[in-house]
Parts: sequence; C-alpha cells; structure tokens
Amino acid sequence: MRQIGVMHGPNLGRLGVRQPQIYGSTTLHDLHEALKVAFPAVAFQFFQSNHEGELIDQLESWRDQGWERVVLNAGALTHQSFALRDAIESLALTVVEVHLSNIYRREPFRAHSLIAPVAVGQISGLGIQGYHLAVQYLVQMTDLDQI
Ligand code: DQA
Repeated sequence: MRQIGVMHGPNLGRLGVRQPQIYGSTTLHDLHEALKVAFPAVAFQFFQSNHEGELIDQLESWRDQGWERVVLNAGALTHQSFALRDAIESLALTVVEVHLSNIYRREPFRAHSLIAPVAVGQISGLGIQGYHLAVQYLVQMTDLDQI
C-alpha cells in the first residue's frame, strides 16, 4: 500500500480565505479531496497544525506507523524551525517540500528554507498543483523501490 502523509504548517488551515491572491481559493478540505480522487491507490493521512510541536509529534507518529513519505508545506516554519528540520533528518523521512507561492519571488526572508537540505526536493510557486506533483513523485518512487 502506498502511504503518504500530507502535512501543512501554520496558517494553512485557512487556505481558500487567506490571501487568495497569493495562495488561491481552494480550501484545504477541497485540496485533500482532490488528492484522494487523483490518487485512489494511495492511502493518505492529512494533518494541519499551527503548532510546531504538534507537527513534530505527528511526524514521529507517522514514522512509528511506518509511514515514511511526506509532502510538507511547513508554512512560515520553513524559514525558522530548526526543530522541524531536525525531526525530518533524524526520522529519515522522505519529504517533498511544497509551497503554493514562489518563495523566491517574495520577501527576502522567505527565500531561505531550513527544510530544503533535508528534503528530497522542493516545489515552489505552482499552487495546489505542487501537491499533486509531489504525491506523483512519491508514488513513482515507491514503484521504483518495488522493482
Ligand atoms: C508558504 C510560503 C511561506 O513563506 C508562508 O509563510 C506560508 C505559505 C506557501 O505555501 O507559499 O505560510 O509555505
């Protein structure tokens, strides 16, 4: 079974109403439903929290359950959380970092990601399509592993 965790950090629970000119008008619920429809063979766990520790607790829980592949939009914690970075590294999770907006075209503080060095890759600026592409990559990775 292909198991993929999709995690969103602070302020992303308000997707759809939060600055739609930057982040789009799709809600988190609609995004999750679209992923389930697009990838019916994937078992998803979705998690959003505004709290750094809760995100880390969830990553630990996923690791304990044997879920290693994660699509992560850490929101602003991307730029400031050493703890989240350490969790990903120490749990040896396969993380694709996603940002709805292009973090390199915005304020300078957004252009630095603490997550990127411990992620397999990063998708930034492609809106919700970025999540689909990230899941697609993690699914194909699974296929390669099974060869
Ligand atoms: C974001 C970009 C971050 O800089 C910001 O703090 C967010 C959302 C994005 O998806 O574009 O909360 O991760």
